[in-house]
Amino acid sequence: MKHRKLFSALAMGLLVSMGASAQPRQFTVNAKPGGPIQPTMYGIFFEDINFGADGGLYAELVENRSFEFPNNLMGWGTFGNVSVSDVKPAFDRNPHYVVLESAGHDQKFTGLENRGFFGMGLKKGMKYDFSVYARLHDLQGKEARIRVELVDNQDVPIDKQTITIKVSQWQKATATLTSNRTVEKGLLRIFLESSDGIDLDHVSLFPEDSWHGLRADLVQDLADLHPGIFRFPGGCIVEGTDLATRYQWKNSVGDVENRPLNENRWNYTFPHRLFPNYYQTYGLGFYEFFLLSEKIGAEPLPILSVGLSCQYQNKDDACNAHVAVDDLQPYIDDALDLIEFANGAITTKWGKLRADMGHPAPFGLKQIGIGNEQWGELYPVRLKKFVEQIRAKYPNIKICGSSGPSASGEMFDYGWEQMRKLDVDLVDEHYYMSPDWFLKNAGRYDNYDRKGPKVFAGEYACHVRGLDKEPTVAMNNFEAALAEAAFMTGLERNADVVYQATYAPLFAHVDGWQWRPDLIWFDNLRSVRSVNWYVQMLYATHRGTHMLSLTENGKAVEGADGLYASAVYDKDAKQYIVKIANTGDKAQEIALNFKGAKGLGAGTAITLHADDPRAVNSLDKPNSVVPQESGVQANGSAATVTVPAKTFAVYKF
Ligand code: AHR
Repeated sequence: MKHRKLFSALAMGLLVSMGASAQPRQFTVNAKPGGPIQPTMYGIFFEDINFGADGGLYAELVENRSFEFPNNLMGWGTFGNVSVSDVKPAFDRNPHYVVLESAGHDQKFTGLENRGFFGMGLKKGMKYDFSVYARLHDLQGKEARIRVELVDNQDVPIDKQTITIKVSQWQKATATLTSNRTVEKGLLRIFLESSDGIDLDHVSLFPEDSWHGLRADLVQDLADLHPGIFRFPGGCIVEGTDLATRYQWKNSVGDVENRPLNENRWNYTFPHRLFPNYYQTYGLGFYEFFLLSEKIGAEPLPILSVGLSCQYQNKDDACNAHVAVDDLQPYIDDALDLIEFANGAITTKWGKLRADMGHPAPFGLKQIGIGNEQWGELYPVRLKKFVEQIRAKYPNIKICGSSGPSASGEMFDYGWEQMRKLDVDLVDEHYYMSPDWFLKNAGRYDNYDRKGPKVFAGEYACHVRGLDKEPTVAMNNFEAALAEAAFMTGLERNADVVYQATYAPLFAHVDGWQWRPDLIWFDNLRSVRSVNWYVQMLYATHRGTHMLSLTENGKAVEGADGLYASAVYDKDAKQYIVKIANTGDKAQEIALNFKGAKGLGAGTAITLHADDPRAVNSLDKPNSVVPQESGVQANGSAATVTVPAKTFAVYKF
């Protein structure tokens, strides 16, 4: 008893010192469940930017494994007698390979080495699966031998294996190497050990714990977000710098060795972050995207080219940048065939390929996006053709169109008007804006037209100005995350018109980033979940199934005295969930009155708070800002909670 009194006194003291207002504010939550919230409501946006795929989520450690970069030996160091050939190749769409021949007596060794993407991360105790396609270089040759080594950053070999080839037809050879230490920037070295020469192609090295070729820790970072929707493969990468380099999903399926290389649209985009070695191997292709969606429990949402290459980089009248409307059929076929690949019977051409790749069951595709961030008159006239044919063949597939790159304005209004006319199901909106914008726009969707297409907030993130000058790499700070949390109460309150939302971009390699902020940062060995990641996760894991009305004095709580709030009901967990973002400098005491609810009892409070708005989670300090859980007590149909200053809080009863 004594202790309880002491605790209450301390708690009171804490409240007073936090500056809680004397009279609790009164929030009314109507406990009667309203409209449904889509399972797709909070999701993820994947694009191969910032080395998100090759060098990131795709766990291949060898850069330019197929020797197909325009400079065929880019990424490789060679010594002795090494040349490149494409005579009688192993793979017709990736025809180049290397020839290793004896360097003679003067020069002892022939071989090559690869440092991966920003060095190869090797972990103590981890096994690494090496594979290569090889044949004797000379038809008369008898036996060629290579020694394969993992090497640490001091140039000391860690492990080695020998591979012997006795035939002159291409064959796959494998070896397992083990690292007995953790090395952030190691390398792979291959020596020719025989006097007979050898041809090598598709030199590959994966950590044994990779999942379908994907980095295990990054897959876990996605799974733990519990996303409802998974948008891929971008972003501008869908459109390409030009039509030839647009993302062509058909090139990204089938045997991985024969998926042709594509330039990455982000290699030369930012003068301050040039990556001439940025290419797409498509090792992470559409099959893997669908598999990953399934694994993390998210609905897949592929976005395809509408026949317009990136409009930022190509003038509207640029020749060869955009497909003529009458020539669109191959692009439309790509969309129709993709639906067949995802959902078709295994007796169909593309359904059979899915089955042959290992997934006879359909992937359950329900929606498709046509065009990424398109604008102006070039777009609707092309999209119309897709809509007509997709509707005719697959009436149940939802179609997502674009409203362009801006959150408002003439271009945006035109885009929406056209999307309404075309009667698409969802309209993709993009906004990378300031904290101020996010706070002011928490009511953005309150008055949206409920009869037209639904909203897909397909790319958004709060950008805090001035941070580019700061010396830290992880730019996702608490200020941005709190503004996003506040804004998202507006998504939740309007879940009858906002069907899904995906923060963007998703991944960034600390040595290879081009665009920030990003949800998840990583190096060769580790990853870190940004503060923004925790906001997304808290929303996704407390999505609820039905909307609830939450008001103060009959009005939505969207900024008065720094407070933003929304509520949902989860019929499966039988829970009322309230989210409150306190962006102000004072703690706020709030009475939550659940009108129509009874016997609420003990609940849970989860808070995300940092004293410093610039606080970040980094690779070295990944848990600087993480949610804290505590108990909270309701009494009958009411509960009084205190939301500390600068805090995002989730309450569930
Ligand atoms: O997310 C980064 C880029 O921002 C996307 O590729 C593009 O759609 C937008 O302009």
